[in-house]
Amino acid sequence: MARSAEPAPPPALRAWARSLLAAADEDPGWLADRVWRGARGDPARFRFRVEALARGVPLAHLEGRVGFHAVELLAGPEALVPRSDSECLLEALLDHLPVVPPGPAPLLDLGTGSGCLLLGFLHLRPAWRGVGADVSRRALTLAERNRRRLCLERRASLVRSDWWRGLTGRFAAVVSNPPYVVPGEELGPGVAEHEPHAALFTPEGDPLWAYRHVLAGAAERLAPPGVVVLEVGAGRADAVVGLARELGFLACERRRDLGGVERALVLRPA
Ligand SMILES: C[S@@+](CC[C@H](N)C(=O)[O-])C[C@H]1O[C@@H](n2cnc3c(N)ncnc32)[C@H](O)[C@@H]1O
Repeated sequence: MARSAEPAPPPALRAWARSLLAAADEDPGWLADRVWRGARGDPARFRFRVEALARGVPLAHLEGRVGFHAVELLAGPEALVPRSDSECLLEALLDHLPVVPPGPAPLLDLGTGSGCLLLGFLHLRPAWRGVGADVSRRALTLAERNRRRLCLERRASLVRSDWWRGLTGRFAAVVSNPPYVVPGEELGPGVAEHEPHAALFTPEGDPLWAYRHVLAGAAERLAPPGVVVLEVGAGRADAVVGLARELGFLACERRRDLGGVERALVLRPA
C-alpha cells in the first residue's frame, strides 16, 4: 500500500537521489520524482531503484513498462526497450500504407523484439494483420505478453526466425529496426550492460550486415506495390540507401526523428 501520496520525496532524499542521478540522460529532479511515485513513497524501494538507475538499469526495466507511440508495452531485459526515436518508423508505416490492406499479404516486422512496431501499427490499423519475427526466444516471450496485453492474438503472429529462414509467403510491407551498432561505438549509459547484445550489435567489420539480410529477402518476398521501412543509426542513411539501390530499392522518403536525426528510410522496389 502507498506510504505517501506526495508527488516528490522528502527534500534530503531528493537531494541524495539528484546527486546520484546527475549523469543520467533525463533531468535528475524529474527522475527522482518519477521514481518516488513508482516506489509508492516507500523510501527503501526508492533508494533501491535510484541506485539501480545510477548503475544504468533502464527506467523501463524498473517500471516494467514503457510508452511507445499510442500504446503502453511491457518492458524487461528480454528485449530492447522501445526507443522514442523509433516512433518515426511507425509514423512512416501509418503514412505510407493504406488504412485497408491492398490484399491478404500481412505486414512483417523483422527483428520484432518487444513487438513495438508491429503491435503499435496493428493497434491503430484494425484491418491489418501482421507477423513479428525474431531470432531471440526471450524477445518473443515478451512480444507474446505484449500481444496478449493489446488483445492482438488474432491479427498478429509471432515466429522464431533467423532473418527470413523461418518465414513463408509474401508480405505487403516490411518494417525493421535491425541491430546496427558497430562494436566499440559509444552507447548511452547502461545500454551495453543491460540490453540484449543481439538487439544492438552488428558483427565486427560489417555495419550493413543486418540490412543486407533484410533487403535481400524483401527483394524476393515483397508483394507489389510493397514498401520497406528501415531504422538507421545516426549518419548511416547514405550507406543504407546505397546498399538498397544495389539490391533494387529506391528511397522514397528519409524521415527524421524528434531529435532531427535521419532515422527512418522508406524504400520501394525500383
Ligand atoms: C534493435 S532491436 C529492435 C527491436 C524492436 N523492433 C524495436 O524497434 O525496439 C533488433 C532485433 O533484431 C533481432 N535480431 C537480431 N538478429 C536477428 C536475426 N538473425 N534474425 C531475426 N532477428 C534478429 C534482435 O533479437 C532484436 O530483437
